[in-house]
Amino acid sequence: MTADGYAIEVDQLVKRFGAFTAVDHISFAVQPGAVFGFLGPNGCGKSTTIRMLCGLLMPTSGTARVAGLDVARDPEGVKRQIGYMSQRFSLYQDLTVRENLEFYAGVYGIARSRRASRISEIIERTDMAGETETLTGALSVGVRQRLALGAALLHSPGIVFLDEPTSGVDPISRRRFWSLIGELRADGVTTLVTTHYMDEAERCSDIVMMRAGRVVARGAPDELKRVHSPGLVLSVRCERPQDAQHVAAKVPGVRAASVRGHRLHVVTDEAAEVAPSLAEELKAHGFGSAQIEPMPVTLDDVFVHLARREPDI
Ligand SMILES: Nc1ncnc2c1ncn2[C@@H]1O[C@H](COP(=O)(O)OP(=O)(O)O)[C@@H](O)[C@H]1O
Ligand SMILES: [Mg+2]
Repeated sequence: MTADGYAIEVDQLVKRFGAFTAVDHISFAVQPGAVFGFLGPNGCGKSTTIRMLCGLLMPTSGTARVAGLDVARDPEGVKRQIGYMSQRFSLYQDLTVRENLEFYAGVYGIARSRRASRISEIIERTDMAGETETLTGALSVGVRQRLALGAALLHSPGIVFLDEPTSGVDPISRRRFWSLIGELRADGVTTLVTTHYMDEAERCSDIVMMRAGRVVARGAPDELKRVHSPGLVLSVRCERPQDAQHVAAKVPGVRAASVRGHRLHVVTDEAAEVAPSLAEELKAHGFGSAQIEPMPVTLDDVFVHLARREPDI
């Protein structure tokens, strides 16, 4: 932990590649035991930040402390304290599950006398007992990602960095992966995870949203929905929603209208005022009597809203 009691503390961190600034003065702090969601569109600087926090990439300026260690001054110390699951695949495809774990146990310098029992614990924890002799390349993506998490946990790190661990993973395996994250949390492990799935973001205790190298919002999921509410969202059932969306988008007070399934998803400035004129316009243009209901704001709405706005934090 840092002197202030944080597992991770980032202050005005910058990374430039030549003239390009990939990470632009970001600051945030992560409580011990948090499941910290690190969100933002592709190319906004998430992986670059994680690589700096893991002691793999030297910051241009600013500071970051992980488990109380300065990542620029003691990158090797940081590496011993953390587990890292990179976005790019790190396991050997032509080794079996057990061979991969044995290989990484060696990399992490786990004492020979401890290796077999630690590997057994990891196999049990990641529920891979039936797969130990399977070639890694033959595993489904979901199982492979569980193995990659297991490998990152071999040396019992207190902080783990998971960079898009569930990209391309089927929904059932995603749920299994998140129950593993839940078990880590119960053990007091701090997790920083990036994801593009908003249902996963909802499961985080805290979130930072980045855009173009900068932090655009931070807070617990409910807090983000309250503070960065993009206006009230209406769900509208009417005839021919594909055509109706263009009419809805032109109604004063409507910020955006799009089709979601058989309904229109309408983001407004002030729903109470917009709903009657929206219903009137849809009827006048031949889309029938619209049924309009307010919808709860989702993190998806917040995300889309913030993606359009200028960074200001
Ligand atoms: N080694 C590098 N050299 C030059 N540019 C890089 C390098 N690594 C990343 N970038 C650029 O930095 C930006 C942020 O990349 P990245 O951190 O991978 O984003 P994210 O993980 O959010 O998708 C991108 O524009 C990417 O092309
Ligand atoms: Mg990335």
